[in-house]
Amino acid sequence: MSAPPKTVIQASDEEAEAIREAVRSVDVNVLGMGRARAELKHVPGLVALLSDERVSGPIYDLPRPITTESVTRWVVENQAQMLAGEALLLVTLDEAGEVAGYSRITVWPEHASAELAGAIRADLQNRGQGGVGMARTFGWIFEALGVRLMCLTAALDNVRSQKGIDAAGFVRMGERDAVRADGSIRRSVYWEMTRDQWRQRHRL
Ligand SMILES: CC(C)(COP(=O)(O)OP(=O)(O)OC[C@H]1O[C@@H](n2cnc3c(N)ncnc32)[C@H](O)[C@@H]1OP(=O)(O)O)[C@@H](O)C(=O)NCCC(=O)NCCS
Repeated sequence: MSAPPKTVIQASDEEAEAIREAVRSVDVNVLGMGRARAELKHVPGLVALLSDERVSGPIYDLPRPITTESVTRWVVENQAQMLAGEALLLVTLDEAGEVAGYSRITVWPEHASAELAGAIRADLQNRGQGGVGMARTFGWIFEALGVRLMCLTAALDNVRSQKGIDAAGFVRMGERDAVRADGSIRRSVYWEMTRDQWRQRHRL
């Protein structure tokens, strides 16, 4: 279960509706790297991707266990949340058209806030792609979806994620208990960043 940021922003009705509309209609192609909104046709690829513990092990908000049924339900739920303007489930397709990664963006339009989770296939990890992809996605969430605040969590031992998130300029704000789909708790490092901080850092 994704939890909204510790810092609470109250968006106006107009701002919240603009964010919802962006989530529904924004062109995800501009993110590059073969990104597409997840559809039922991607379920077999997502099952293969997420069945690998090197991919799904560190992520708390995935369906468990990973089966065709659980992933089908997850994609359908995300499609409904996308229509409500409250989530985006994206796949990354490689040159062969195989699912090589995923990103899930949870959006709280009424708080102008979002959270990102994601992973790349094991053979693509540790080559610098994840760090680059994360930074590009953070910027896109702020600018294309129009949110003003992002929060992130990572497992206490997830050094790669922590490095990428720190490097992007997110600010550590203590720890947080993340709740897995089965109700179990994962202690996490917790970060936030505002859009203003992002723009200042990238001189936008
Ligand atoms: C997290 C993930 C997206 C990072 O992508 P990646 O391409 O593997 O990572 P990168 O190659 O960009 O490396 C990130 C940083 O960690 C460093 N790193 C990699 N392995 C490391 C290790 N064992 N110890 C210390 N640092 C390590 C890299 O040097 C790099 O640091 P740098 O930018 O200062 O050079 C990817 O590993 C992944 O999908 N992991 C499984 C799922 C997951 O953890 N998702 C995130 C949940 S919050």
